[in-house]
Amino acid sequence: MSKKVRVAIIGVGNCASSLIQGVEYYRNASREDRVPGLMHVDLGGYHISDIEFSAAFDIDREKVGYDLGEAIFRGQNNTVVFAKVGKLGVPVHRGMTHDGLGKYLSEVIVKAPGPTADIVKILKETKTDVVVNYLPVGSEAATKWYTEQILEAGCAMVNCMPVFIAREDYWRKRFEEHKLPIIGDDIKSQVGSTIIHRVLTRLFQERGVELEHTYQLNFGGNTDFLNMLERERLVSKKISKTNSVLSQLQHPMDKDDVHIGPSDYVPWLKDRKWAHIRMEGKAFGDVPLTVDLKLEVHDSPNSAGIVIDAVRCCKLGLDRGLGGALEGPASYFMKSPPFQVSDERAHELTGAFIAGRVAAACISDPEETVAPRQVNLGGNGLATGAPQRDATPVGSES
Ligand SMILES: NC(=O)c1ccc[n+]([C@@H]2O[C@H](COP(=O)([O-])OP(=O)(O)OC[C@H]3O[C@@H](n4cnc5c(N)ncnc54)[C@H](O)[C@@H]3O)[C@@H](O)[C@H]2O)c1
Repeated sequence: MSKKVRVAIIGVGNCASSLIQGVEYYRNASREDRVPGLMHVDLGGYHISDIEFSAAFDIDREKVGYDLGEAIFRGQNNTVVFAKVGKLGVPVHRGMTHDGLGKYLSEVIVKAPGPTADIVKILKETKTDVVVNYLPVGSEAATKWYTEQILEAGCAMVNCMPVFIAREDYWRKRFEEHKLPIIGDDIKSQVGSTIIHRVLTRLFQERGVELEHTYQLNFGGNTDFLNMLERERLVSKKISKTNSVLSQLQHPMDKDDVHIGPSDYVPWLKDRKWAHIRMEGKAFGDVPLTVDLKLEVHDSPNSAGIVIDAVRCCKLGLDRGLGGALEGPASYFMKSPPFQVSDERAHELTGAFIAGRVAAACISDPEETVAPRQVNLGGNGLATGAPQRDATPVGSES
């Protein structure tokens, strides 16, 4: 077993910058200590410093051809700089554009000249273990194209964005057939608007408060938010965020009572994201109860610590010869995993996976009788919960 986790990046944007900075920042973190900002210094025998960047792909002329350690501070990237990163000896190769650049990104990004690099060859030659997909929201064709390259090259995948791969039967089976692990889809940040809204939704549910109306309005000043001004591109993002919250409820809600999604682009916020969450419910005696909160975060570092853990879980999957979705870790790390459970249960399942107590399919495994939450908003096509393989009644998870 190699003691290194060789990671390739698709999309050298703000999230990639935070991930790469984070690996540098925590390089000397003590395995024994509790380190603020991290969930695991050591994960299944892999220290953060065991993560090595092996290859990178982008299409921006400001990034392609540059060393990855430089490219993360170029172009439109505007996330906070918290670590010095020198040259990594990893060039950014020209990727395949497909639908990567939408209406707004193509106004600020100029495509690099030259042909698409041979992705499969590069991934093989660099002995890449895990590929992280950081493409812009709406890159449906590009994500599927890159996924084929990843499968052909024999790498595991962490899908950080909301084009559904790990959640879909078709793609999950392809990863099973190739005996390659995948964790997806759409990263759930460390403490972001999704997990806060999910936990509060479950709290309402468990304490008997009827949630009647809710919204979550998000805005920021990075290219992720600029891109999402194009409403047609963010359908899957809205589905991913909405389902993630509603999966914590046992009763359906009318689609007009739920509004969750990216809302605007405010350039001066740069990589900061503000989220306003409002929840209106009915409590004891049918009297009204309201939660109204605002979250302010730096968007990209908020997801990087999760990806640091997700790539190491994928490497554990490779070491153990597992193929398909790593369901426990996916339920903890992702907004749209193959199966939705509570965050508490997802945390337990991830711990059990890391410790080697359960295999990949730890949720659908009959011995681990965890039922997915059933959410059905009935025919509006917006929020229908995660796909379900198990008809176990709601509430019977152990
Ligand atoms: N907390 C978070 O920041 C968070 C949470 C959940 C999901 N995500 C998702 O992660 C993804 C990445 O976010 P980001 O903030 O880094 O975005 P970003 O806009 O900063 O970076 C995207 C990068 O992809 C590149 N790109 C575009 N098309 C490409 C192609 N076809 N091939 C290769 N590269 C291409 C762009 O040039 C850019 O460098 C987004 O889809 C975002 O929604 C982020």
